[in-house]
Parts: sequence; structure tokens; C-alpha cells
Amino acid sequence: MSEPLLRITGLNKSFGPVHVLHDVDLTVPAGEVTALVGDNGAGKSTLVKCVAGIHAADSGEVRFRGEPVHLRGPKDAAELGIEVVYQDLALADNLDIVANMFLGRERGKPWRLDEASMEEAARSTLASLGVRTVKSVRTPVASLSGGQRQTVAIAKAVLWNSNLVLLDEPTAALGVAQTRQVLDLVRRLAEKGLGVVLISHNLADVFEVADRIAVLYLGRMAAQVRTADVTHGQVVELITAGRSGDLGLARPEAVQL
Ligand SMILES: Nc1ncnc2c1ncn2[C@@H]1O[C@H](COP(=O)(O)OP(=O)(O)O)[C@@H](O)[C@H]1O
Ligand SMILES: [Mg+2]
Repeated sequence: MSEPLLRITGLNKSFGPVHVLHDVDLTVPAGEVTALVGDNGAGKSTLVKCVAGIHAADSGEVRFRGEPVHLRGPKDAAELGIEVVYQDLALADNLDIVANMFLGRERGKPWRLDEASMEEAARSTLASLGVRTVKSVRTPVASLSGGQRQTVAIAKAVLWNSNLVLLDEPTAALGVAQTRQVLDLVRRLAEKGLGVVLISHNLADVFEVADRIAVLYLGRMAAQVRTADVTHGQVVELITAGRSGDLGLARPEAVQL
């Protein structure tokens, strides 16, 4: 058996007295979409931030392609090709698409940026992702629709030879057609061979786009299953009760107390 792209074992994270993540395991294979679901406050964003190096885990092991790694900061994650698209998109409204995609990682000298090369890279990245809705890469981000903004944020994440992209609620603020575009894009990332983690509240979207589903319940990993092996109802039960039949935590009621 080959090692998965990312394997987390026994991860714990507290904020002061608040123990948010308890012995969390998570496996993310390359070339697949892994949905990370769970109720509000279950710890999804915290887990993603631990993988991104934003938060330091208190304990636990993270392996990337089988090798133990230490994620002490966002730079460590970036060096492994781990990119995160956050709930609140970190895009600068007043800048155009090219400037946003290269923000903080510009090409060329500070006094003479290599605009032509950045513009070409931005254009070819969008094209490689099959994005056709953005007319010009020189459009200021402020004038884009929500779906287009999300597309730019995702394209920005894949521009950096990424291996693993984590998306925190990318469709939360989008309409039906825009959600469609973003989900197509999520699928394409996996088809390009990347590992993809998708946090979503929308189980219809999850069932449509995810190969695997990981359910967090009150900071514990209740189950990691293949989408094809579970029903919508089972996932709802895992999310709300931590357990569904044989699946889930042995004693979820003990967790709640
Ligand atoms: N920086 C922080 N400081 C203190 N508590 C936090 C911090 N970030 C998250 N939490 C707490 O951790 C828990 C999980 O939050 P979060 O990871 O955002 O959940 P989710 O993304 O699943 O809704 C919540 O109870 C939240 O209040
Ligand atoms: Mg969250």
C-alpha cells in the first residue's frame, strides 16, 4: 500500500483551557476529494489551520507522502505545496486578478515586477482549470462576482505547484450557478492529481463531488468513509450524533457531557 498524500494521527489542539481537537486522525489521498463535514464549532477550520501551519498542534503526527513533517508556520506548509482557500477570501479588492494571484510572491525585482510573466502564468493557470468566465486577468477583483472571486482564490492556490488544496466553505456565499462552477473546479483539481479537502455544509454538494467523507463531531473524528458506502441519512446522523449504526464514535454521549 502506498502512503497517502497526507496522514494525520492523534492530533490535539487547545486554545487555552478549551480543548478543540481530540486525537484527530485524517487521511487525504492524492487525486481525490475528501469532504470534511461537521456541525458549527466541530473544529473543521481549526483542523485546516493546523495543516496550513497557522495553528501549531499541541500533539500528534503529520505525515506528508509518508514522511513526518513539522508545520511550524504557513511557510512550512507552502514549501510542501499545501495551500488553503479560506472562508473569508483573502483577496485585495483594489488589485486586479494577476496582482492578487501573486500577492506577496511577486516575480521580478521590487522596483520592476515581471508583469508579463505573471500575467501569462495567471492566464494559463485559469485556462488549465478550464475557467472561461473571467474575461481579463487585469480585471480588478472588486468587480468580480462571488463565484469568480472564489475561482480566483482557488486558481491562486493552485498556481504554486500545489499538491494539497484545502477549501474552507468555498460555496457558502454562492448562488446555484456559481456553486456549480466552483464544484466543477474542485473536481478538476482532484483530476489533476492534487489532494483536495473540501469543507462544506451542503451535503448535496458533498455527495456530488467528494470521493471520501470525514466527519468531525465535537472535535473528534467520528468517521472517515467512502462516499459510495454511506447514505445521506447516515452522514446526517454522524454529524448530529457522532454515530450511525456501526459507524462513528463508540460512546458519543460521553463526548457531549
Ligand atoms: N483562535 C481561537 N481561540 C479560541 N477558541 C477558538 C479559536 N478558534 C476556534 N476556536 C473554538 O474552537 C471551536 C471550533 O471552531 P472551528 O474550528 O472554527 O469550528 P468549525 O469550523 O467546525 O465551525 C469553537 O468552539 C471555537 O469557538
Ligand atoms: Mg469553520
